[in-house]
Amino acid sequence: MFERNSRIIRDGESLSFDYVPDKVVLREAQMGELERMFSPLAMDNRACSAYLWGSVGSGKTVTAKRFCEDMKVYFSENNRRMDYVYVNCRIRNTEYAAVLDIMRHYDRGFPDRGFAIDEILTLLKRAMEKEGAPLVVVLDEVDCILKGSTKNLVYQLTRFTEDMKGKATLSLIMISQYSLASLLDEASMSTFRRANMITFMKYTLEDLRAIVRYRADLALEKDTLDEDGVDLIARLSEEFGDARFAMEILERAAHSAEKEGLSTVTLDCIRTGGASIYSDVSENKLNDLDMNRKLALLSISRAIKTAPSISISKCEKTYAVVCEEYNVPAKQHTQYYTYVKDLEKQGLIRTEVKREPDGGRATYIAIDSIPPKELAHKIEYLLDTPQNEGADFE
Ligand SMILES: Nc1ncnc2c1ncn2[C@@H]1O[C@H](COP(=O)(O)OP(=O)(O)OP(=O)(O)O)[C@@H](O)[C@H]1O
Ligand SMILES: [Mg+2]
Repeated sequence: MFERNSRIIRDGESLSFDYVPDKVVLREAQMGELERMFSPLAMDNRACSAYLWGSVGSGKTVTAKRFCEDMKVYFSENNRRMDYVYVNCRIRNTEYAAVLDIMRHYDRGFPDRGFAIDEILTLLKRAMEKEGAPLVVVLDEVDCILKGSTKNLVYQLTRFTEDMKGKATLSLIMISQYSLASLLDEASMSTFRRANMITFMKYTLEDLRAIVRYRADLALEKDTLDEDGVDLIARLSEEFGDARFAMEILERAAHSAEKEGLSTVTLDCIRTGGASIYSDVSENKLNDLDMNRKLALLSISRAIKTAPSISISKCEKTYAVVCEEYNVPAKQHTQYYTYVKDLEKQGLIRTEVKREPDGGRATYIAIDSIPPKELAHKIEYLLDTPQNEGADFE
């Protein structure tokens, strides 16, 4: 029971979605901005606020959590105290539920009924004054409580400490995929003007490579994921620029390598990981291909075997064999090239021009989203089933 067939994962916890690594790769600028915006808190216990926004999986949550953890360490090194509460407003999606979460930081058993929001806020002030230390409230996915509701809670929290005495200030870090301007009308905007904006751009392919490498080194045994593997994970998630997608593929690929008793995370493990996230990937697209394009794709998926990519000339050799097998005349190079380009347009393959050892240049083809062997089986199945009889031969 619970037996592992091999050992790839050294620290499984560090692959979990809410793990906060020591470093947030390539987000030094955003960390720096947070540091600048929160220096009044660090220096004089003054309340601060920031609004972090940007696309899905661009590291907003992990940056905010890392920053709060680092700030806690800074305070304790200076013999001071500071605390933070993290509230996910998508889960705690009413102002009441959110304020309850904050209150429970001080009073774990605080009842979930019987108090109005204003009453809880008064009690919160009292609890904070008694504690005598600053608090940072992180309102993640804050749009969920800004949308539709009265926006009263967020407004009150931004001004929470105005009439409070002592060190017990309340600072805010709000996070959303949407800009504040798109969520609020102009009148409400002006009440938030003290919130400083920090933008999180989509990660580039290069960024994703660095993130995957860093997280793989944290989580996996040494030398279990090579650069081709890192590159493939980055490419699969590049379309979305999404580090969460990359982390999910990494985790699934590592588990599948262990399950299969392999000593490394192979490209196929990664493709399987990617495909399991989008399990219906390409199924419909494959159905829509005509006979010629199916044969061209079959030739590529058979030729590629375990390589990350393969030259078009090698694929064409396999194509000749495939055509013979299915009793169809093989097309000339230019026609084959058109099929390859069509398949690329469909997102089924990817091509790149590479320099050959003899100095010439050649088109290479890669299949990223599904293990080539599995793709070959799918096409063979489609070619062998009767619905394909009479398909277009041009
Ligand atoms: N720069 C980075 N370095 C290391 N890990 C990262 C980095 N950026 C993101 N991650 C990891 O990728 C995943 C997604 O990041 P995160 O949850 O912070 O994104 P987000 O911007 O909050 O996305 P969403 O808008 O969907 O909530 C997390 O597991 C996080 O740890
Ligand atoms: Mg998030």
